Amino acid sequence: MKAVQFQKTGEPSAVLQTVDTQRPAPKSGEVLVRMLATPINPSDLMYIRGRYTVPAQCPTTPGFEGVGVVEASGGGLRGRLFMKRRVVVLNRRGGNWADYAVVPATEVIPISSGLSVEQAATFFVNPATAWVMTREVLKVPHGQWLVQTAAGSALGRMIIRLGQATGFRTFNIVRRESQAEELRGLGADHVEVFDEAKNTPEELSASIRRTISIAGAGAGFAIDAVGGATGSAVIQSLGHHGRMLAYGTLSNEPLVFSPRVLMTTSSKVEGFWLGSYMSGVSLPYKLSLVHRLTKLIQAGVLGTEIAQSYTLDQIHDAVKAAEDTSVQGKVLLRISETPV
Ligand SMILES: NC(=O)c1ccc[n+]([C@@H]2O[C@H](COP(=O)([O-])OP(=O)(O)OC[C@H]3O[C@@H](n4cnc5c(N)ncnc54)[C@H](OP(=O)(O)O)[C@@H]3O)[C@@H](O)[C@H]2O)c1
Repeated sequence: MKAVQFQKTGEPSAVLQTVDTQRPAPKSGEVLVRMLATPINPSDLMYIRGRYTVPAQCPTTPGFEGVGVVEASGGGLRGRLFMKRRVVVLNRRGGNWADYAVVPATEVIPISSGLSVEQAATFFVNPATAWVMTREVLKVPHGQWLVQTAAGSALGRMIIRLGQATGFRTFNIVRRESQAEELRGLGADHVEVFDEAKNTPEELSASIRRTISIAGAGAGFAIDAVGGATGSAVIQSLGHHGRMLAYGTLSNEPLVFSPRVLMTTSSKVEGFWLGSYMSGVSLPYKLSLVHRLTKLIQAGVLGTEIAQSYTLDQIHDAVKAAEDTSVQGKVLLRISETPV
């Protein structure tokens, strides 16, 4: 079978190779999945660069998310139940950028036949994060503002549509004017371009205060995937008891702020990682979340815009496209065209 691999961490287009390797065999409690499609997410690229929460044990195959068909089971009830079914593959150890992946049977979720391969491949990570951060953790009330950075990302666009569907307003921060135009077209309530080379963090936080709060009182709710000057400016805009979730490190720069900012407003900066959130919830909650996400994806609220699809052999073009600002939407690896 074919698999994308890297022998050492580094720039994805330099270290990734597509190799012929042996098909893995599932052990007890595991299933063998024939992969249909898998997205290239920022977390995959961070993993390859050696900057992700989970360090890579090289040589290894990347790929934390995707959709496939269960072809064999190493034993166990779930494996038997899922045989020949189309499943979402949430592969915590990575390995989905291959013809076949072996995962614990607890990391696959049978998926509605009503969803396309593209929407099934991107079913969980971003949609669940968008829902959980805004509706379960921050619980942004109807009519209130949520400030978000990297608003033009796949996840940022889901947040804008979720705000429209559930009644909260979004203050959206992007780094390019062309992206600002697009988000205004999507119906974003407010879009601000923050270019670190031209604007100061003070200008951004003053603009947030002016736009969203009564008498400049500050932001109540924020989410940040960028860090650095952008995320730090958002922290400075937090109002009394304001909360910001830090959920990404796109700039690879630390957040810098005076503790006084938090002291004087009793505001909070908290980390959010879907992996650790999901490990603390019950099975009935997970099932109801899957049901809710299916409905919201079908309604277009939590759907993912797909840009281009590549084969495993085209991995270098695929990883370049995933970070090309002129490519709009999520890049997919389309692995097998044969459905269930
Ligand atoms: N914590 C969690 O559990 C969790 C779960 C899911 C996703 N995430 C995070 O959510 C974020 C978005 O993921 P996604 O899949 O939606 O991403 P995506 O669709 O690949 O989009 C990435 C976006 O980030 C922007 N960006 C990249 N570097 C930037 C920088 N230095 N400053 C400002 N903007 C920058 C890009 O802007 P341009 O278009 O201008 O290049 C692009 O719009 C990522 O950080 C990801 O790791 C976290």
